[in-house]
Amino acid sequence: MAQTAVAETYNDKVVLQFSVMTVVWGIVGMLVGVFIAAQLYWPELGMGVPWLSYGRLRPLHTNAVIFAFGGSGLMATSLYVVQRTCHVRLISDKLAAFVFWGWQAVIVLAAITLPMGLTQGKEYAELEWPIDLLITVVWVAYAIVFFGTIGKRRVSHIYVANWFYGAFILAIALLHIVNNLALPVSAGKSYQVYTGAVDAMVQWWYGHNAVGFFLTAGFLGMMYYFVPKQAGRPVYSYRLSIVHFWALIAIYMWAGPHHLQYTALPDWVQSLGMVFSLILLAPSWGGAINGVMTLSGAWHKLRTDPVLKFLIVAISFYMIATFEGPMMSIKTVNSLSHYTDWTVGHVHAGALGWVAMITIGSLYSLFPRLLGVNAMYSTRLIDTHFWVHTIGVVFYIAAMWIAGVMQGLMWRATNEDGTLTYTFIESLKATYPYYFVRMAGGVFVVAGMLIMAWNVWQTFRIAQRTGETPVLAPAADAHA
Ligand code: HEM
Ligand code: HEM
Repeated sequence: MAQTAVAETYNDKVVLQFSVMTVVWGIVGMLVGVFIAAQLYWPELGMGVPWLSYGRLRPLHTNAVIFAFGGSGLMATSLYVVQRTCHVRLISDKLAAFVFWGWQAVIVLAAITLPMGLTQGKEYAELEWPIDLLITVVWVAYAIVFFGTIGKRRVSHIYVANWFYGAFILAIALLHIVNNLALPVSAGKSYQVYTGAVDAMVQWWYGHNAVGFFLTAGFLGMMYYFVPKQAGRPVYSYRLSIVHFWALIAIYMWAGPHHLQYTALPDWVQSLGMVFSLILLAPSWGGAINGVMTLSGAWHKLRTDPVLKFLIVAISFYMIATFEGPMMSIKTVNSLSHYTDWTVGHVHAGALGWVAMITIGSLYSLFPRLLGVNAMYSTRLIDTHFWVHTIGVVFYIAAMWIAGVMQGLMWRATNEDGTLTYTFIESLKATYPYYFVRMAGGVFVVAGMLIMAWNVWQTFRIAQRTGETPVLAPAADAHA
Protein backbone atom coordinates (compact mmCIF):
# COMPACT_ATOMS: atom_id res chain seq x y z
CA MET A 1 0.00 0.00 0.00
CA ALA A 2 2.65 2.45 1.16
CA GLN A 3 4.70 1.63 -1.92
CA THR A 4 1.79 2.38 -4.23
CA ALA A 5 1.36 5.70 -2.47
CA VAL A 6 4.99 6.49 -3.25
CA ALA A 7 4.40 5.64 -6.89
CA GLU A 8 1.44 8.00 -6.99
CA THR A 9 3.22 10.77 -5.15
CA TYR A 10 6.42 10.83 -7.15
CA ASN A 11 7.51 10.13 -10.72
CA ASP A 12 10.30 7.66 -10.04
CA LYS A 13 9.96 5.99 -13.42
CA VAL A 14 12.00 8.63 -15.23
CA VAL A 15 14.55 8.61 -12.40
CA LEU A 16 14.96 4.86 -12.74
CA GLN A 17 15.27 5.07 -16.53
CA PHE A 18 18.00 7.68 -16.28
CA SER A 19 19.74 5.72 -13.50
CA VAL A 20 19.89 2.53 -15.55
CA MET A 21 21.16 4.42 -18.60
CA THR A 22 23.86 6.05 -16.45
CA VAL A 23 25.30 2.59 -15.79
CA VAL A 24 24.94 1.57 -19.45
CA TRP A 25 26.55 4.74 -20.86
CA GLY A 26 29.21 4.58 -18.15
CA ILE A 27 30.27 1.17 -19.42
CA VAL A 28 30.14 2.21 -23.09
CA GLY A 29 31.98 5.53 -22.60
CA MET A 30 34.67 4.02 -20.41
CA LEU A 31 35.15 1.08 -22.79
CA VAL A 32 35.82 3.59 -25.56
CA GLY A 33 38.23 5.27 -23.11
CA VAL A 34 40.09 1.99 -22.66
CA PHE A 35 40.16 1.49 -26.43
CA ILE A 36 41.71 4.90 -27.15
CA ALA A 37 44.11 4.39 -24.23
CA ALA A 38 45.11 1.10 -25.93
CA GLN A 39 45.49 2.93 -29.26
CA LEU A 40 48.03 5.25 -27.71
CA TYR A 41 50.00 2.14 -26.76
CA TRP A 42 49.29 0.12 -29.93
CA PRO A 43 48.71 2.79 -32.60
CA GLU A 44 47.80 0.21 -35.27
CA LEU A 45 44.77 -0.98 -33.28
CA GLY A 46 42.28 0.89 -35.47
CA MET A 47 43.43 -1.26 -38.44
CA GLY A 48 43.16 1.75 -40.76
CA VAL A 49 39.36 1.83 -40.45
CA PRO A 50 38.46 5.56 -40.48
CA TRP A 51 35.70 5.35 -37.87
CA LEU A 52 38.02 3.48 -35.51
CA SER A 53 40.66 6.18 -35.77
CA TYR A 54 41.83 7.90 -32.61
CA GLY A 55 40.77 11.35 -33.80
CA ARG A 56 37.15 10.22 -34.16
CA LEU A 57 36.91 7.99 -31.11
CA ARG A 58 38.45 10.48 -28.67
CA PRO A 59 35.50 12.91 -28.95
CA LEU A 60 33.18 9.90 -28.80
CA HIS A 61 34.76 9.01 -25.45
CA THR A 62 34.53 12.53 -24.02
CA ASN A 63 30.94 13.02 -25.20
CA ALA A 64 29.87 9.59 -23.95
CA VAL A 65 31.36 9.94 -20.48
CA ILE A 66 30.48 13.59 -19.91
CA PHE A 67 27.08 13.96 -21.55
CA ALA A 68 25.74 10.39 -21.66
CA PHE A 69 27.11 8.98 -18.38
CA GLY A 70 27.45 12.24 -16.41
CA GLY A 71 24.37 13.84 -17.99
CA SER A 72 22.10 10.86 -17.34
CA GLY A 73 23.38 10.66 -13.74
CA LEU A 74 22.70 14.35 -13.22
CA MET A 75 19.22 14.11 -14.71
CA ALA A 76 18.39 11.00 -12.66
CA THR A 77 19.47 12.50 -9.36
CA SER A 78 18.21 16.05 -9.97
CA LEU A 79 14.73 14.79 -10.87
CA TYR A 80 14.75 12.58 -7.77
CA VAL A 81 16.09 15.23 -5.41
CA VAL A 82 13.79 18.00 -6.63
CA GLN A 83 10.72 15.83 -5.94
CA ARG A 84 11.83 14.63 -2.51
CA THR A 85 12.99 18.03 -1.27
CA CYS A 86 9.99 19.92 -2.67
CA HIS A 87 7.54 17.22 -1.48
CA VAL A 88 5.80 17.21 -4.82
CA ARG A 89 5.56 15.16 -8.02
CA LEU A 90 7.29 16.40 -11.19
CA ILE A 91 5.27 19.08 -12.93
CA SER A 92 4.65 16.91 -16.00
CA ASP A 93 5.24 13.20 -16.60
CA LYS A 94 4.93 13.60 -20.35
CA LEU A 95 7.57 16.30 -20.48
CA ALA A 96 9.83 14.24 -18.20
CA ALA A 97 9.46 11.27 -20.59
CA PHE A 98 10.32 13.60 -23.49
CA VAL A 99 13.48 14.70 -21.65
CA PHE A 100 14.51 11.08 -21.17
CA TRP A 101 13.90 9.93 -24.76
CA GLY A 102 15.18 13.21 -26.22
CA TRP A 103 18.44 12.95 -24.30
CA GLN A 104 18.92 9.33 -25.35
CA ALA A 105 18.30 10.37 -28.97
CA VAL A 106 21.02 13.02 -28.67
CA ILE A 107 23.43 10.40 -27.36
CA VAL A 108 22.65 7.91 -30.13
CA LEU A 109 23.06 10.64 -32.77
CA ALA A 110 26.40 11.56 -31.23
CA ALA A 111 27.47 7.91 -31.29
CA ILE A 112 26.66 7.76 -35.01
CA THR A 113 27.97 11.12 -36.24
CA LEU A 114 31.23 11.37 -34.31
CA PRO A 115 32.74 8.13 -35.69
CA MET A 116 31.57 9.32 -39.14
CA GLY A 117 33.86 12.30 -38.65
CA LEU A 118 31.07 14.90 -38.52
CA THR A 119 32.31 17.52 -36.06
CA GLN A 120 32.43 21.26 -35.43
CA GLY A 121 35.99 20.77 -34.20
CA LYS A 122 35.31 22.49 -30.86
CA GLU A 123 36.27 20.39 -27.85
CA TYR A 124 33.24 19.19 -25.83
CA ALA A 125 31.03 20.98 -28.40
CA GLU A 126 31.78 18.73 -31.36
CA LEU A 127 28.21 17.90 -32.32
CA GLU A 128 26.89 19.51 -35.50
CA TRP A 129 24.07 22.05 -35.61
CA PRO A 130 21.01 19.76 -36.06
CA ILE A 131 21.97 17.85 -32.90
CA ASP A 132 22.73 21.14 -31.14
CA LEU A 133 19.18 22.26 -31.89
CA LEU A 134 17.79 19.02 -30.48
CA ILE A 135 19.92 19.48 -27.35
CA THR A 136 18.47 22.98 -26.93
CA VAL A 137 14.88 21.73 -27.13
CA VAL A 138 15.52 18.85 -24.71
CA TRP A 139 17.38 21.12 -22.32
CA VAL A 140 14.56 23.68 -22.27
CA ALA A 141 12.12 20.85 -21.51
CA TYR A 142 14.42 19.66 -18.70
CA ALA A 143 14.56 23.21 -17.29
CA ILE A 144 10.76 23.46 -17.38
CA VAL A 145 10.37 20.14 -15.57
CA PHE A 146 12.96 21.05 -12.93
CA PHE A 147 12.03 24.68 -12.26
CA GLY A 148 8.31 24.01 -12.75
CA THR A 149 8.53 21.39 -10.00
CA ILE A 150 10.32 23.85 -7.74
CA GLY A 151 7.59 26.36 -8.55
CA LYS A 152 4.81 24.11 -7.25
CA ARG A 153 6.73 22.88 -4.17
CA ARG A 154 4.85 22.24 -0.94
CA VAL A 155 7.60 23.60 1.32
CA SER A 156 8.70 27.23 1.20
CA HIS A 157 12.41 26.42 1.50
CA ILE A 158 14.48 25.44 -1.56
CA TYR A 159 17.09 22.91 -0.41
CA VAL A 160 20.68 23.82 -1.36
CA ALA A 161 21.13 20.79 -3.66
CA ASN A 162 18.47 22.31 -5.91
CA TRP A 163 20.40 25.58 -6.09
CA PHE A 164 23.38 23.71 -7.48
CA TYR A 165 21.29 21.68 -9.93
CA GLY A 166 19.47 24.86 -10.96
CA ALA A 167 22.71 26.75 -11.61
CA PHE A 168 23.95 23.79 -13.66
CA ILE A 169 20.82 23.80 -15.82
CA LEU A 170 20.80 27.57 -16.42
CA ALA A 171 24.54 27.91 -17.02
CA ILE A 172 24.69 24.99 -19.47
CA ALA A 173 21.81 26.49 -21.47
CA LEU A 174 23.69 29.78 -21.76
CA LEU A 175 27.03 28.16 -22.59
CA HIS A 176 25.56 25.79 -25.14
CA ILE A 177 23.74 28.50 -27.08
CA VAL A 178 26.53 31.08 -27.11
CA ASN A 179 29.35 28.66 -27.98
CA ASN A 180 27.42 26.90 -30.74
CA LEU A 181 26.33 29.93 -32.75
CA ALA A 182 27.18 28.87 -36.29
CA LEU A 183 26.14 29.24 -39.91
CA PRO A 184 25.02 25.91 -41.38
CA VAL A 185 26.03 25.18 -44.98
CA SER A 186 24.65 21.63 -45.12
CA ALA A 187 23.04 19.11 -42.73
CA GLY A 188 26.45 17.96 -41.54
CA LYS A 189 28.56 21.09 -41.80
CA SER A 190 28.50 24.56 -40.26
CA TYR A 191 30.90 27.44 -39.66
CA GLN A 192 31.35 29.18 -36.32
CA VAL A 193 30.37 32.84 -36.16
CA TYR A 194 33.49 33.63 -34.13
CA THR A 195 37.00 33.84 -35.49
CA GLY A 196 40.58 33.95 -34.23
CA ALA A 197 41.32 34.78 -30.61
CA VAL A 198 37.65 35.59 -29.93
CA ASP A 199 36.69 32.08 -31.05
CA ALA A 200 39.32 30.62 -28.70
CA MET A 201 38.11 32.72 -25.78
CA VAL A 202 34.42 31.86 -26.30
CA GLN A 203 35.35 28.19 -26.66
CA TRP A 204 37.27 28.12 -23.38
CA TRP A 205 34.74 30.27 -21.57
CA TYR A 206 32.44 27.41 -22.60
CA GLY A 207 34.96 24.62 -21.96
CA HIS A 208 35.96 25.72 -18.51
CA ASN A 209 32.40 26.41 -17.42
CA ALA A 210 31.36 23.03 -18.78
CA VAL A 211 33.83 21.78 -16.15
CA GLY A 212 32.48 24.23 -13.58
CA PHE A 213 28.79 23.72 -14.12
CA PHE A 214 28.43 20.30 -15.79
CA LEU A 215 31.24 18.41 -14.08
CA THR A 216 31.15 20.32 -10.79
CA ALA A 217 28.00 22.27 -9.79
CA GLY A 218 25.57 19.49 -10.71
CA PHE A 219 27.65 16.88 -8.90
CA LEU A 220 27.86 19.15 -5.85
CA GLY A 221 24.07 19.00 -5.91
CA MET A 222 24.46 15.21 -5.66
CA MET A 223 26.92 15.64 -2.80
CA TYR A 224 24.58 17.89 -0.82
CA TYR A 225 21.73 15.40 -1.03
CA PHE A 226 23.32 11.96 -0.96
CA VAL A 227 26.15 12.46 1.56
CA PRO A 228 23.78 13.60 4.35
CA LYS A 229 21.24 10.95 3.33
CA GLN A 230 23.74 8.10 3.36
CA ALA A 231 25.49 9.30 6.52
CA GLY A 232 22.18 9.91 8.30
CA ARG A 233 23.45 13.33 9.41
CA PRO A 234 22.45 16.89 8.48
CA VAL A 235 24.78 18.94 6.26
CA TYR A 236 27.71 20.10 8.45
CA SER A 237 27.03 23.80 7.90
CA TYR A 238 24.04 24.99 5.95
CA ARG A 239 25.32 28.56 6.09
CA LEU A 240 28.62 27.47 4.52
CA SER A 241 26.71 25.69 1.75
CA ILE A 242 25.03 28.96 0.76
CA VAL A 243 28.34 30.87 0.81
CA HIS A 244 29.84 27.96 -1.14
CA PHE A 245 27.14 28.23 -3.80
CA TRP A 246 27.38 31.97 -4.46
CA ALA A 247 31.18 32.08 -4.29
CA LEU A 248 31.59 29.12 -6.64
CA ILE A 249 29.23 30.33 -9.36
CA ALA A 250 30.51 33.91 -9.17
CA ILE A 251 34.17 32.92 -9.59
CA TYR A 252 34.00 30.01 -12.06
CA MET A 253 32.77 32.21 -14.92
CA TRP A 254 36.06 34.18 -15.03
CA ALA A 255 38.64 31.42 -14.92
CA GLY A 256 38.37 30.13 -18.52
CA PRO A 257 41.44 31.92 -19.91
CA HIS A 258 43.71 29.58 -17.90
CA HIS A 259 43.21 27.18 -20.83
CA LEU A 260 44.86 29.73 -23.13
CA GLN A 261 48.04 30.76 -21.34
CA TYR A 262 50.81 31.97 -23.66
CA THR A 263 48.44 32.25 -26.63
CA ALA A 264 47.29 35.20 -28.76
CA LEU A 265 44.84 36.14 -26.00
CA PRO A 266 45.68 39.56 -24.45
CA ASP A 267 48.16 39.09 -21.62
CA TRP A 268 45.93 40.73 -19.01
CA VAL A 269 43.11 38.29 -19.82
CA GLN A 270 45.47 35.36 -19.22
CA SER A 271 46.51 36.83 -15.86
CA LEU A 272 42.86 37.46 -14.95
CA GLY A 273 42.09 33.80 -15.64
CA MET A 274 45.01 32.78 -13.44
CA VAL A 275 43.96 35.01 -10.53
CA PHE A 276 40.36 33.83 -10.59
CA SER A 277 41.56 30.21 -10.76
CA LEU A 278 43.64 30.75 -7.64
CA ILE A 279 40.70 32.33 -5.82
CA LEU A 280 38.57 29.35 -6.89
CA LEU A 281 40.52 27.13 -4.53
CA ALA A 282 38.71 28.70 -1.55
CA PRO A 283 35.06 27.95 -2.42
CA SER A 284 36.03 24.56 -3.86
CA TRP A 285 37.72 23.43 -0.68
CA GLY A 286 35.16 25.16 1.54
CA GLY A 287 32.41 23.16 -0.13
CA ALA A 288 34.39 19.93 -0.06
CA ILE A 289 35.14 20.34 3.65
CA ASN A 290 31.44 20.93 4.22
CA GLY A 291 30.75 17.60 2.50
CA VAL A 292 33.40 15.65 4.39
CA MET A 293 32.54 17.18 7.78
CA THR A 294 28.94 16.09 7.32
CA LEU A 295 30.30 12.76 8.52
CA SER A 296 31.09 14.24 11.96
CA GLY A 297 29.85 11.74 14.49
CA ALA A 298 29.32 9.13 11.79
CA TRP A 299 32.90 8.33 10.78
CA HIS A 300 32.51 4.76 11.98
CA LYS A 301 30.03 4.17 9.16
CA LEU A 302 32.92 4.38 6.69
CA ARG A 303 34.09 1.01 7.99
CA THR A 304 30.92 -0.80 7.05
CA ASP A 305 29.27 1.25 4.30
CA PRO A 306 31.06 1.12 0.91
CA VAL A 307 28.54 3.58 -0.53
CA LEU A 308 29.77 6.22 1.89
CA LYS A 309 33.33 5.28 0.95
CA PHE A 310 32.52 6.07 -2.67
CA LEU A 311 31.02 9.43 -1.71
CA ILE A 312 33.77 10.53 0.64
CA VAL A 313 36.66 9.39 -1.56
CA ALA A 314 34.94 11.24 -4.43
CA ILE A 315 35.13 14.44 -2.39
CA SER A 316 38.81 13.73 -1.65
CA PHE A 317 39.53 13.47 -5.38
CA TYR A 318 37.56 16.68 -5.88
CA MET A 319 39.92 18.34 -3.40
CA ILE A 320 42.93 16.95 -5.26
CA ALA A 321 41.66 18.21 -8.63
CA THR A 322 40.68 21.62 -7.30
CA PHE A 323 44.07 22.07 -5.65
CA GLU A 324 45.93 20.92 -8.71
CA GLY A 325 43.85 23.07 -11.11
CA PRO A 326 44.70 26.42 -9.52
CA MET A 327 48.38 25.39 -9.40
CA MET A 328 48.32 24.50 -13.11
CA SER A 329 46.74 27.84 -13.93
CA ILE A 330 49.82 29.69 -12.64
CA LYS A 331 51.56 30.75 -15.82
CA THR A 332 54.99 29.38 -14.95
CA VAL A 333 53.52 26.01 -13.91
CA ASN A 334 51.31 25.96 -17.01
CA SER A 335 54.36 26.45 -19.20
CA LEU A 336 55.45 23.03 -17.96
CA SER A 337 52.10 21.23 -17.74
CA HIS A 338 50.35 22.43 -20.90
CA TYR A 339 50.41 19.95 -23.84
CA THR A 340 51.58 17.20 -21.52
CA ASP A 341 49.78 14.22 -19.97
CA TRP A 342 49.75 16.08 -16.67
CA THR A 343 46.59 17.81 -17.96
CA VAL A 344 45.07 14.42 -18.80
CA GLY A 345 45.93 13.21 -15.27
CA HIS A 346 44.25 16.30 -13.79
CA VAL A 347 41.19 15.74 -15.96
CA HIS A 348 40.76 12.16 -14.79
CA ALA A 349 41.41 12.96 -11.13
CA GLY A 350 38.30 15.09 -11.57
CA ALA A 351 36.46 12.82 -13.99
CA LEU A 352 37.14 9.33 -12.63
CA GLY A 353 37.83 10.34 -9.03
CA TRP A 354 35.20 13.00 -8.43
CA VAL A 355 32.51 12.77 -11.14
CA ALA A 356 32.38 8.99 -11.55
CA MET A 357 32.72 8.14 -7.85
CA ILE A 358 30.09 10.61 -6.61
CA THR A 359 27.74 9.34 -9.34
CA ILE A 360 28.36 5.68 -8.59
CA GLY A 361 27.93 6.26 -4.83
CA SER A 362 24.71 8.20 -5.36
CA LEU A 363 23.32 5.51 -7.66
CA TYR A 364 24.07 2.75 -5.16
CA SER A 365 22.17 4.84 -2.63
CA LEU A 366 19.34 5.50 -5.08
CA PHE A 367 18.62 2.11 -6.67
CA PRO A 368 17.29 0.38 -3.51
CA ARG A 369 15.07 3.40 -2.77
CA LEU A 370 13.69 3.39 -6.30
CA LEU A 371 13.15 -0.34 -6.36
CA GLY A 372 11.58 -0.51 -2.92
CA VAL A 373 14.12 -2.98 -1.49
CA ASN A 374 16.17 -2.62 1.67
CA ALA A 375 19.58 -2.66 0.06
CA MET A 376 21.50 -3.54 -3.08
CA TYR A 377 21.79 -7.26 -3.86
CA SER A 378 25.36 -7.41 -2.53
CA THR A 379 27.16 -4.95 -0.27
CA ARG A 380 30.35 -6.95 -0.71
CA LEU A 381 30.24 -6.39 -4.44
CA ILE A 382 29.89 -2.62 -3.83
CA ASP A 383 32.99 -2.85 -1.67
CA THR A 384 34.82 -4.79 -4.39
CA HIS A 385 33.74 -2.16 -6.91
CA PHE A 386 35.04 0.56 -4.62
CA TRP A 387 38.50 -0.99 -4.39
CA VAL A 388 38.75 -1.95 -8.05
CA HIS A 389 37.71 1.57 -9.08
CA THR A 390 40.04 3.30 -6.62
CA ILE A 391 43.01 1.20 -7.73
CA GLY A 392 42.15 1.93 -11.37
CA VAL A 393 41.97 5.68 -10.79
CA VAL A 394 45.24 5.75 -8.86
CA PHE A 395 46.96 3.77 -11.66
CA TYR A 396 45.55 6.18 -14.22
CA ILE A 397 46.34 9.49 -12.58
CA ALA A 398 49.70 8.54 -11.07
CA ALA A 399 50.89 7.29 -14.50
CA MET A 400 49.77 10.51 -16.17
CA TRP A 401 51.26 12.78 -13.54
CA ILE A 402 54.66 11.13 -13.81
CA ALA A 403 54.49 10.97 -17.61
CA GLY A 404 53.35 14.60 -17.82
CA VAL A 405 56.05 16.12 -15.65
CA MET A 406 58.64 13.95 -17.41
CA GLN A 407 57.46 15.12 -20.86
CA GLY A 408 57.47 18.78 -19.77
CA LEU A 409 60.99 18.50 -18.41
CA MET A 410 62.29 16.59 -21.44
CA TRP A 411 60.81 19.09 -23.90
CA ARG A 412 62.39 22.10 -22.20
CA ALA A 413 65.80 20.53 -21.52
CA THR A 414 68.58 22.22 -23.53
CA ASN A 415 72.26 21.54 -24.06
CA GLU A 416 74.94 24.12 -23.39
CA ASP A 417 74.89 25.24 -27.02
CA GLY A 418 71.14 25.90 -26.80
CA THR A 419 69.99 22.87 -28.82
CA LEU A 420 67.30 20.54 -27.48
CA THR A 421 68.57 17.64 -25.37
CA TYR A 422 65.78 15.26 -26.44
CA THR A 423 63.89 14.72 -29.67
CA PHE A 424 60.11 14.45 -29.48
CA ILE A 425 60.34 10.74 -30.34
CA GLU A 426 62.59 10.16 -27.34
CA SER A 427 59.99 11.70 -25.04
CA LEU A 428 57.29 9.57 -26.69
CA LYS A 429 59.31 6.39 -26.17
CA ALA A 430 59.84 7.31 -22.53
CA THR A 431 56.06 7.74 -22.14
CA TYR A 432 55.07 4.29 -23.45
CA PRO A 433 55.26 2.37 -20.14
CA TYR A 434 52.98 4.95 -18.53
CA TYR A 435 50.46 4.60 -21.35
CA PHE A 436 50.34 0.90 -20.56
CA VAL A 437 49.73 1.59 -16.85
CA ARG A 438 46.95 4.08 -17.73
CA MET A 439 45.30 1.48 -19.94
CA ALA A 440 45.51 -1.10 -17.14
CA GLY A 441 43.92 1.44 -14.77
CA GLY A 442 41.09 1.87 -17.28
CA VAL A 443 40.54 -1.90 -17.41
CA PHE A 444 40.14 -1.91 -13.60
CA VAL A 445 37.61 0.91 -13.78
CA VAL A 446 35.54 -0.82 -16.48
CA ALA A 447 35.68 -4.10 -14.52
CA GLY A 448 34.20 -2.18 -11.58
CA MET A 449 31.40 -0.85 -13.76
CA LEU A 450 30.57 -4.37 -14.93
CA ILE A 451 30.39 -5.50 -11.31
CA MET A 452 27.98 -2.63 -10.71
CA ALA A 453 25.81 -3.65 -13.67
CA TRP A 454 25.58 -7.20 -12.31
CA ASN A 455 24.68 -5.91 -8.84
CA VAL A 456 21.99 -3.62 -10.25
CA TRP A 457 20.57 -6.43 -12.37
CA GLN A 458 20.35 -8.76 -9.37
CA THR A 459 18.72 -6.02 -7.30
CA PHE A 460 16.09 -5.66 -10.04
CA ARG A 461 15.42 -9.39 -9.84
CA ILE A 462 14.94 -9.23 -6.07
CA ALA A 463 12.58 -6.30 -6.53
CA GLN A 464 10.57 -8.19 -9.13
CA ARG A 465 10.35 -11.28 -6.92
CA THR A 466 9.10 -9.38 -3.88
CA GLY A 467 6.61 -7.46 -6.03
CA GLU A 468 7.01 -4.48 -3.71
CA THR A 469 8.55 -2.24 -6.30
CA PRO A 470 6.42 0.87 -6.71
CA VAL A 471 8.16 2.08 -9.83
CA LEU A 472 7.70 -1.25 -11.61
CA ALA A 473 4.03 -1.45 -10.57
CA PRO A 474 1.27 -0.36 -12.97
CA ALA A 475 0.39 2.47 -10.56
CA ALA A 476 3.62 4.14 -11.60
CA ASP A 477 2.03 4.90 -14.93
CA ALA A 478 -1.17 6.20 -13.40
CA HIS A 479 -0.19 9.79 -14.07
CA ALA A 480 1.76 9.21 -17.26
C1 HEM B 1 37.94 3.64 -17.99
C2 HEM B 1 38.00 4.88 -17.78
C3 HEM B 1 38.64 5.88 -18.70
C4 HEM B 1 39.71 5.75 -19.55
C5 HEM B 1 40.57 4.52 -19.77
C6 HEM B 1 39.90 7.02 -20.21
C7 HEM B 1 40.87 7.27 -21.16
C8 HEM B 1 41.04 8.47 -21.82
C9 HEM B 1 42.04 8.73 -22.83
C10 HEM B 1 43.05 7.72 -23.35
C11 HEM B 1 41.91 10.02 -23.21
C12 HEM B 1 42.72 10.76 -24.27
C13 HEM B 1 43.94 11.39 -23.67
C14 HEM B 1 44.79 12.05 -24.70
O1 HEM B 1 44.29 12.49 -25.75
O2 HEM B 1 46.01 12.14 -24.49
C15 HEM B 1 40.84 10.60 -22.42
C16 HEM B 1 40.43 11.91 -22.50
C17 HEM B 1 39.42 12.45 -21.74
N1 HEM B 1 38.59 11.78 -20.86
FE1 HEM B 1 38.76 9.85 -20.30
N2 HEM B 1 38.96 7.90 -19.73
C18 HEM B 1 38.16 7.24 -18.82
C19 HEM B 1 37.08 7.77 -18.12
C20 HEM B 1 36.63 9.07 -18.22
C21 HEM B 1 35.51 9.61 -17.50
C22 HEM B 1 34.61 8.84 -16.55
C23 HEM B 1 35.43 10.93 -17.85
C24 HEM B 1 34.44 11.99 -17.43
C25 HEM B 1 33.47 11.89 -16.58
C26 HEM B 1 36.49 11.21 -18.80
C27 HEM B 1 36.74 12.43 -19.39
C28 HEM B 1 37.73 12.68 -20.31
C29 HEM B 1 38.00 14.01 -20.84
C30 HEM B 1 37.27 15.30 -20.47
C31 HEM B 1 39.08 13.86 -21.74
C32 HEM B 1 39.77 14.96 -22.54
C33 HEM B 1 40.98 15.44 -21.76
C34 HEM B 1 41.74 16.59 -22.36
O3 HEM B 1 41.38 17.07 -23.44
O4 HEM B 1 42.73 17.03 -21.74
N3 HEM B 1 37.20 10.06 -19.00
N4 HEM B 1 40.32 9.62 -21.59
C1 HEM C 1 39.51 25.00 -8.80
C2 HEM C 1 39.18 24.19 -9.76
C3 HEM C 1 39.95 23.96 -11.02
C4 HEM C 1 40.85 24.76 -11.68
C5 HEM C 1 41.32 26.15 -11.31
C6 HEM C 1 41.30 24.03 -12.84
C7 HEM C 1 42.28 24.45 -13.71
C8 HEM C 1 42.69 23.79 -14.84
C9 HEM C 1 43.83 24.10 -15.66
C10 HEM C 1 44.83 25.23 -15.37
C11 HEM C 1 43.85 23.24 -16.70
C12 HEM C 1 44.92 23.13 -17.79
C13 HEM C 1 44.66 24.00 -18.93
C14 HEM C 1 45.70 23.79 -20.00
O1 HEM C 1 46.89 23.93 -19.74
O2 HEM C 1 45.30 23.47 -21.13
C15 HEM C 1 42.70 22.40 -16.56
C16 HEM C 1 42.31 21.44 -17.48
C17 HEM C 1 41.16 20.70 -17.34
N1 HEM C 1 40.42 20.54 -16.19
FE1 HEM C 1 40.60 21.62 -14.51
N2 HEM C 1 40.64 22.81 -12.89
C18 HEM C 1 39.82 22.74 -11.80
C19 HEM C 1 39.01 21.68 -11.47
C20 HEM C 1 38.65 20.69 -12.35
C21 HEM C 1 37.71 19.62 -12.08
C22 HEM C 1 37.02 19.38 -10.74
C23 HEM C 1 37.57 18.93 -13.24
C24 HEM C 1 36.73 17.72 -13.59
C25 HEM C 1 35.78 17.25 -13.08
C26 HEM C 1 38.41 19.55 -14.24
C27 HEM C 1 38.48 19.19 -15.56
C28 HEM C 1 39.39 19.69 -16.46
C29 HEM C 1 39.42 19.31 -17.85
C30 HEM C 1 38.42 18.39 -18.56
C31 HEM C 1 40.54 19.94 -18.40
C32 HEM C 1 41.11 19.75 -19.80
C33 HEM C 1 40.52 20.66 -20.77
C34 HEM C 1 41.10 20.42 -22.13
O3 HEM C 1 42.20 20.91 -22.44
O4 HEM C 1 40.46 19.71 -22.91
N3 HEM C 1 39.07 20.59 -13.65
N4 HEM C 1 42.02 22.73 -15.41
